[in-house]
Amino acid sequence: MFDLYNNAYGNYASDPYRQVRIETYGQDFGQTSWVTTEESLEIPQLLDLGPDSSVLEIGCGSGGYALYLAEKLGCQIVGVDINESGIRSAKEIAQTRALGSRTRFEQCDVSKNLPFDDQTFDAAFSNDVLCHVSGRLDLLVEMFRVLKPAGRMLFSDALVIGGMISAEEIAIRSSIGFYFYSPPGENERLLEQARFPQVRTADTTENAARISKKWHDAREKRKAELVTAEGAANFEGLQRFLSCVHTLTSERRLLRYLYFACKTS
Ligand SMILES: C[S@@+](CC[C@H](N)C(=O)[O-])C[C@H]1O[C@@H](n2cnc3c(N)ncnc32)[C@H](O)[C@@H]1O
Repeated sequence: MFDLYNNAYGNYASDPYRQVRIETYGQDFGQTSWVTTEESLEIPQLLDLGPDSSVLEIGCGSGGYALYLAEKLGCQIVGVDINESGIRSAKEIAQTRALGSRTRFEQCDVSKNLPFDDQTFDAAFSNDVLCHVSGRLDLLVEMFRVLKPAGRMLFSDALVIGGMISAEEIAIRSSIGFYFYSPPGENERLLEQARFPQVRTADTTENAARISKKWHDAREKRKAELVTAEGAANFEGLQRFLSCVHTLTSERRLLRYLYFACKTS
């Protein structure tokens, strides 16, 4: 097993990690996902967010994107993540940027019930997180519960099976954590079961192909500094992981989809 998230969030502010993010994504939101900046900039519109919105981000990592939304839109946002370093960084940055009154970050395992009252949020979203969470239906039911009527939700899944994948590829693709792969149509079925009707989807496989290549190449350029920070074995393990994501997504054997739905009842 190789470590992606502790290194990324623990070294959030260090130069090589920051430069890798800027070269990979363009705009630095502290990303550890396949979300392009275009996609990040579309989310507020898709979720119809404004200054009065109360928003939940599931799997916020080190909080950069939630803080951006709070700053840009003036909305209230709660970010949850299981990773302690991520939540610690998020809280520190919120304080530095004087965004403590609009943001809240909590360490939380979202495979358990969400620690919020019914009908708390106008919108909830999760970028490339649900693939890590056991009991996806339970989490979708929880998202439904914490949304207000007419609340909007969105999540992405980068592990939809699109073709033949070898056992070795599955092992490399799964080498940084606990993962669930889903057959096409499964997320739509689960969303319907969780009472989210009329799901809209967008195929964003190309984004994962693009980001994984850029991320790999940006890290390779800073190999010496990253090896010092995370160790040679971990550096090589993450490079193999990123190459594998690139191969599987550019050949469309692994697909990434965005799912968008509203709570209409
Ligand atoms: C691919 S990263 C995405 C982070 C962020 N959304 C982004 O776009 O950069 C997946 C995140 O899910 C978090 N995560 C994994 N399992 C989780 C769980 N059971 N509960 C909460 N967060 C979890 C990880 O710690 C990590 O920050």
